[in-house]
Formats: sequence, structure tokens, C-alpha cells
Amino acid sequence: MNTFKKIVVGGAALVVVLAAAGLALTHQGEIAAQTSIPTAEFSPQQIAKGKLLAAMGDCAVCHTAPNGKTNAGGLAMPSPFGTIYTSNITPDAQTGIGGWSYEAFERAMRHGVDREGNYLYPAFPYTAFSRVTDEDMQSLYAYLMSEPAVEYAPPKTALNFPYNVRRGIAAWNWLYLKPGVVKDDEKQPPEWNRGAYLVEGLGHCSACHTPRNGLAAEKTGEFHLTGGSAEGWDAPALTSQSPSPLPWTKADLLSYMKTGFSERHGVAAGPMAPVAHGLSQQSDADLDAIATYLMSYRDADAAPGDAQAMIKEKTATPKLALDAEGYRLYQGACMACHRADPSASTFGVRPQLALSTSLHAASPDNAIMAVLEGVQQPAHADLGTMPAFRHALSDAQIATLLNTMRAQYGMGEWSDLPNQVGKLRKQTAAQSH
Ligand code: HEC
Ligand code: HEC
Ligand code: HEC
Repeated sequence: MNTFKKIVVGGAALVVVLAAAGLALTHQGEIAAQTSIPTAEFSPQQIAKGKLLAAMGDCAVCHTAPNGKTNAGGLAMPSPFGTIYTSNITPDAQTGIGGWSYEAFERAMRHGVDREGNYLYPAFPYTAFSRVTDEDMQSLYAYLMSEPAVEYAPPKTALNFPYNVRRGIAAWNWLYLKPGVVKDDEKQPPEWNRGAYLVEGLGHCSACHTPRNGLAAEKTGEFHLTGGSAEGWDAPALTSQSPSPLPWTKADLLSYMKTGFSERHGVAAGPMAPVAHGLSQQSDADLDAIATYLMSYRDADAAPGDAQAMIKEKTATPKLALDAEGYRLYQGACMACHRADPSASTFGVRPQLALSTSLHAASPDNAIMAVLEGVQQPAHADLGTMPAFRHALSDAQIATLLNTMRAQYGMGEWSDLPNQVGKLRKQTAAQSH
């Protein structure tokens, strides 16, 4: 048995034992269904605020199926334990949360328990949402309850034993759920605290950007925000451990969050694209606060580095023979879009690739995913799109291409690359377009 399986099986046994011991303690009652929605209690300001908060929390990103109605649920979320389907959170009384009082909604968001008393899977990031203030929670509720009701019953989640025993999640919560609003750190200025509140609460940045343990819980302490994964992509470290060739500055973070793109680092692709889209709608003050907080995870004194000089250095002279297969593939498939200037060097690449975090990371996954899937839904329409090369290039071709780019940018080859391309190709075949 490989180590991962051992951890998972060991974890499963632990969950079952704890669950059995805790059955009596874990009973959650049903909260009676409300017969009408208290719309008169919602002010227009509250609804508008709730809409922004929902964008910050990416509710619609997870609660909308491909081509489905907004927030009607049914998106399939693969997990190590099986496929989990998101719920309908529109105010439809039968298939959605129309029957949920504020009390029921708040219990789900803070404790991960649905209106009838069933435990919800932590694929729903309630460990982060539990840290939101009452005022923000009420605005979210007001907004969701004022949206159109959609009658749609998403597919039922049916995991294998023991993960289908929802009571087992009580043990998981006992270990990993720390409810309570994000606390201010008195030693820090107000904008830092505001940033911490947004990042650790609704923004749930750590859900993707923090590594997880064998029970799929985020690791804590020194591991916080040091890089995790999502849907086959790596979510790079947001700390000074970032693999980006130039250090991130506060201005870089601001432009990345506002536009989905940073000239000195690259684009928000894959699962980060919809997150960046939600961020771009937030106020300048809140984005500034998030950037202030994230910068405290970095070495503030690091010199920003000169982007133009680095691009020049990385693209000036070809590092391999120009008729090498990797260059030929690049010219045929990529150069039409990825070049700075037609009259520039043969390997003139749009600056963002020469500085791209994906091409400089220790793991090849994001570069592979970008080529396999393309950039179909960028954070903003004016960023342009990139076609998927899944059906145009073989595993070996993608590997040769990427390792040629690595060599050009002064990075060592990624080892075992064709196999890794094959693995990600298989793993993401179902979600491909
Ligand atoms: C990362 C994906 C993800 C995000 C982001 C997300 N949810 Fe969910 N949510 C889920 C999943 C998955 C479930 C179903 C869990 C289960 O079946 O145990 C769920 C369940 C729920 C439920 C319980 C519904 C029911 O009928 O049981 C509520 C309420 C809810 N989410 C509200 C929200 C709100 C509000 C937001 C935004 C602030 C949000 N969710 C963001 C994944 C997500
Ligand atoms: C659903 C998963 C997910 C969530 C939630 C998420 N991210 Fe990301 N993030 C990613 C992925 C994946 C990438 C890599 C994207 C790429 O290479 O194009 C990324 C990249 C980034 C980068 C660029 C890192 C680099 O070095 O290139 C920044 C900055 C970032 N995210 C900030 C945030 C912030 C701030 C939040 C919370 C408000 C957040 N992310 C929430 C998945 C996520
Ligand atoms: C039709 C135009 C087009 C073609 C062809 C194209 N790209 Fe892209 N590529 C883009 C756009 C647009 C982006 C995202 C926005 C940006 O960086 O400006 C992008 C982004 C990328 C990224 C960064 C993704 C990330 O997560 O940071 C990589 C890596 C990449 N392309 C590699 C390639 C390779 C390799 C090829 C050839 C197989 C290729 N591209 C072909 C348009 C294209």
C-alpha cells in the first residue's frame, strides 16, 4: 500500500472510531422550515453588500454547474473520497434554501450543518466562512434570499463507506473547525486586520493555497499559505516561499487582483481565474488591505527586481540549437501569440511567459495544465484566451516544448515530464472542454 493510501485508510479508521464514540454528542436537531422569506427585513444596501460578499466568497463559482443557472448547484467537485455535488442555494423552497431561516443558514456557514441537521462535507469551505461577522452573514443571507429561485435538484452525493456516514464529519469538525470571527491583532494596523479578515474569512484563500493533511484538513502554523492544490493545478505559495522569479510587491498583488494579470508574474488562469474575477469587484480599500496582509508573509525588504532586465536576459540569445524540436514546436504552436515583437529575437516571448510563475515553479503542473486546457475563461475578457492543446500535442511533445522553454529561461529540466503530462491529461479528461 502506498503512503497516501495508508494515510487515507488510517484516517478513515480514525474517523469511524471517533464518530462512534461521539455519536451521542454529535446529534444536531432539525430547524423548522420557514414558510415565507422575510424579504421585508432586507434593505437595498444590505442586499448590495451581500452581493459583493458573495463575489468575495466565490459562492457562484462552486454553486453553479457548467451551463447551469447561477447558484442552482450541481457542480461536481472531485475529492480524494469521491465526487461531491454542490447544493442549490437559490431561495427555491423545495430544491434550494428558500425554507432556511437565517438561523439555519448561519448554522450551515459557521458549523457545517444543514437545516435538517445533517453534517456537510468540508469541500464546502465553512471552516473559513465560520469566521465571518454576524453583520456580513446577514447581508449574505439577504442577498441570496433576494435572488431568483431556481427549481433544480442537483445530483445526490454518494460517497463510499465510511465517507457516506455524515456523522463522521463531526469528528473532523472537532479536530479542525475553529468557529469564531477572525480576531484583530492589536499590534497590527487596521488595514492589516481588515486584510486578515477577508483572506482568512470569506476569501478562503488558504483553502487552495495551503497544503492539506491525510484527512484533507489544511495544515496550520508555518504551513499556512505555503502552497496547495486545486483541480490539477498548484496554488503557489503566497509567502516568501513563492516560486515566482521576481518577488511579489504590493503593487503586483494589487494589479493581479484587479485585472487577473501582473506584468511581472503572469496571468490568473485555471481555478484562480474566477477567484480573481470575484476579487476585481471589491473596493480599492479592501484590495489594499488584502495586499497589506499578504505582504506580511513576505520579506518586505526584498528588492523588487528589474522586470525588463530579467526578460532581456532570459530571451536574448537562444540557449539551444534553433532547429531543436522544442523550438520548432514553439514556433508552430505558440509563437503566433507569445511574442513580444515580431522583429525581436527568434525566441521573443510575451514578457509574462519569461517571468511566468508556472514555468519557474518546482512542479510542472501549472505549465502542463495551461497547455492542456488553455486559458478559456480568463478573469477578464480583455486578457485574451488561449486554445487547449489537449488534442493537438502528444505527452512527449508537450514535455519537449516545456523543457525547451525551461532551458531558455535558465531553469533545469523537469524530470519525468512525459509521464506527468500523461497523468494530468488522464486526471483532468472528465473536466476538459
Ligand atoms: C469551494 C466550493 C464552495 C464554495 C466557494 C462555496 N460553497 Fe457552499 N457548498 C459547497 C459544497 C460542496 C456543498 C455541499 C456539501 C455537502 O453536500 O455536504 C455546499 C453547501 C452549501 C450550503 C448548504 C446547502 C444545503 O442545501 O445543504 C450552503 C448554505 C452554502 N453552501 C452556502 C455557500 C455560500 C453562501 C457561499 C459563498 C459565501 C458558498 N457556499 C461557497 C461548496 C462551496
Ligand atoms: C479555488 C482555488 C483558489 C482559491 C480559493 C484562491 N486561489 Fe490563488 N491561485 C490558485 C491557483 C490554481 C493559482 C495558479 C494560477 C496560475 O498559474 O495561473 C493561484 C495563483 C495566485 C496568485 C499568483 C501566485 C504566483 O506566484 O503566480 C496569487 C497572488 C493568488 N493566487 C492570490 C489569491 C488570494 C489573495 C486568494 C484569496 C482571496 C486566492 N488566491 C484564492 C487557486 C486559488
Ligand atoms: C491564440 C493565442 C495563444 C496561443 C496560440 C498560445 N497561447 Fe499561451 N497564452 C495565451 C494567453 C492570452 C494567455 C494568458 C494571458 C496572458 O498571459 O497574456 C496565455 C498564457 C500562457 C501561459 C501562462 C499560464 C499561467 O498559468 O501562468 C503559458 C505557460 C502558456 N500560455 C504557454 C503556451 C504554450 C506552451 C503555447 C504553445 C503550445 C501557447 N501558450 C500558445 C495565448 C496563447
